This record gives sequence, C-alpha cells and structure tokens, in this order.
Amino acid sequence: MAEGAAQDAFLRIEGVSKSFGSFQAVRDVSLTVGKGEIFSLLGGSGCGKTTLLRMLAGFEEPSAGRIFLDGRDMAGVPPWERPVHMMFQSYAIFPHMTVEENVGYGLKHDKGMSKADRANRVAEMLELVQLTPFAQRKPHQISGGQRQRVALARALARQPKLLLLDEPLAALDKKLREQTQFELMSIQARTGVTFIVVTHDQEEAMTLSDRIAVMDKGEVRQVGSPTEVYEFPNSRFVAGFIGSINTFEATVIARESPHLRLSVPALGTEVLARDVAAVAVGQAVTLAIRPEKLRISRERPEAANALAGTVRDLAYFGKDSLYRLDLAGGGMVQAHAVNARRGDEGARVADWDDAVFVGFDPASALVLVT
Ligand SMILES: Nc1ncnc2c1ncn2[C@@H]1O[C@H](COP(=O)(O)OP(=O)(O)OP(=O)(O)O)[C@@H](O)[C@H]1O
Ligand SMILES: [Mg+2]
Repeated sequence: MAEGAAQDAFLRIEGVSKSFGSFQAVRDVSLTVGKGEIFSLLGGSGCGKTTLLRMLAGFEEPSAGRIFLDGRDMAGVPPWERPVHMMFQSYAIFPHMTVEENVGYGLKHDKGMSKADRANRVAEMLELVQLTPFAQRKPHQISGGQRQRVALARALARQPKLLLLDEPLAALDKKLREQTQFELMSIQARTGVTFIVVTHDQEEAMTLSDRIAVMDKGEVRQVGSPTEVYEFPNSRFVAGFIGSINTFEATVIARESPHLRLSVPALGTEVLARDVAAVAVGQAVTLAIRPEKLRISRERPEAANALAGTVRDLAYFGKDSLYRLDLAGGGMVQAHAVNARRGDEGARVADWDDAVFVGFDPASALVLVT
C-alpha cells in the first residue's frame, strides 16, 4: 500500500500553510498520500492536525500552498463537491434516530439515489461494520465502540474517496480502542478507501498506519512507516515523541566504518554507534538508545558496547520490567527487559541494588544531529 505512494500521489499537499491572524497553525506542509493508504497525522495537542484536515475537507482555505486530490486542484472547491468525508473529533450521531437512520442520514439529500438503492447501501454498510442486528436500536442502546462504528458506517455510506478521521477512537477506553483499531483496519482493507487518521496516541498511529507524519508546532518533522519513525527517528524531537529513549551528549571521535566512535562523558566510556553520513569527526551529537535495546546481564557481555551499573529503581509490569540504572560513568539509563523466566520471584533479570552490565549493539545506538 505504502509502496509507490509518491508516484500514485492520490493526495498531494504542496507547501500548505494556514494562519489565523498572526498565528501560524500549519507551516509549509508538503505530503503525498497513496491510494488506499492509512496515513496518520501524529502530534501533540495544538500542533495543527485538525486544521490540516479541515483544509483537506474544504472547511478552511490554505493561506498558502496547494492541495491536489486525484489530480484535481482543490482550490476554491467547496466541501460538498469534494470526494472527501470528515469524521469529526467528537463524532455526532443523532440520539433520536435509530442506528439504521443514522447510517442513511447523509444519503437523504442525494437526489440521484432511489429509496431502494439507499436501503441497499445502508444494509451493506451495517453489514460492513457488523451492526446489522442493531439496526433498529437507538444510540443509547448500544456500546461506545458500536456507536463509533455507526459513525464510520455513516461516513462510508457516501462512498468518499478520502476519509478523514479526527481522533476516531479517543472516546473509547483502552481495551475497546485496541479492538476497534483492528476493525478499522479491516474495514479500510475491504473498502480500499484512503484513510487519513489524526491521533495524538503514538501506539494507535503505529498500529493503524502504513505511514505516519509526525507533527510539531504546525510542521511535519518526519514522514515514514511505523518502523522507520521508531527505529530511525530523524531528530531528538521525533525520537522522544515516539516511545521512550535514553539520550546523551556525545562527540564523534572517529569514523570506523560502518560505525562511528563516540566519546560520551556521562557513560564514562567510548561507544560505537550506527554511522550516519551527515556527521563529521569532532562534531557534537546526541547519542540515543531505546530502553529495550539495552540488554542487562550479571556478567560483562561480549557486546561491542558494555556499561557497568547498579539497579537504582525498577518497575515490574508483569510481562516485563523497566530498570533505572546508575552507571559507573555517572550517567543514568533506563533499560527494558522481558520477565521471561517462570513466574517466581526470580522472573526479573535483576533486582534493586544489583551490580549489572548493560550491553548494546552499535546498530541500535542512534546518532542524532538535530
Ligand atoms: N479558527 C481558529 N482561529 C484561531 N486559532 C485557531 C483556529 N483554529 C485552530 N486554531 C489554533 O491553531 C492551533 C492548531 O489547532 P488544531 O485544532 O489544528 O490542533 P490539533 O493538533 O488538532 O490539536 P488537538 O490534538 O488538541 O485536537 C491551535 O493553537 C489552535 O488554537
Ligand atoms: Mg484536533
């Protein structure tokens, strides 16, 4: 799906900005989205996600830049003439209407559609979201997850080419949200409609998306597959926004292909890291390592990088534990480890005050320059 996205460019956003008075809510955003992709806009509150969606839907005109949908310039095209449907942040389904009436609501004003066609479409949509048995119920007689699916069925009934979903699962509790994420993906796969999903939940973005645009203060900071943005963040911001990460000030002291040798004062030792072409020997950089890439052991490991430390703190989560280690060099790291042994007291790999080592591969030591 993500493959060939740039060539297909079903949706092309070129240098789009939006200002409200002197405040710039969206800054020079350029993106392409392929047909049938699930593309997420991920970012904190106020970073411009809804504003960008509203411009795609035609509720706001960009202050600068252009939007092409299926090859057509959207400038001046009103919302109702765009093959786009927006599911709002607080999706409004009508409490006095049945599930069936809600799903058919948007079709009522479609003059070219016969009553029978309308009934067929509604039946098809109810089938798609598995709500056929609930067709005659009112919204208060179904669950939150089911109400969510009513809103989705209503949005899809009009057969948009592009569906914009603004925080579609925010109203659901964690368990239901996880379940609904998979339903959303399966519905998208069956309809082939291109989805743009806004979320501030990074796990949701990772689960749902073919690609993610990470946004900050109106700007897109990185676009990539979930793996790319997690494993290869392009900046300290993206590294810290998605998942947790240990960061240290470092200096490049040598290029030892395919690695870089760094001096890292807080670790009290030199470290081998993944080479990135854009840095020079002598340059100040940030070394970043995800907690789950650090392996805790009691004996000094064979790994290319090994640090000695003491367990200062740990949090036991059942299936895994998070350890906070004081390092001999004076720094501190967080390491994540699966509690893989049998469920006795020894399930953890280490305990409070244990002297341990942490080992990591150069490939998982990231060098960030911005
Ligand atoms: N009509 C408007 N007039 C003035 N400022 C606006 C307007 N709409 C949005 N903004 C501002 O633009 C910024 C981006 O808003 P937007 O709603 O796009 O954020 P968001 O990323 O969707 O945030 P959230 O996750 O909280 O929904 C915010 O600072 C907001 O206050
Ligand atoms: Mg919003």
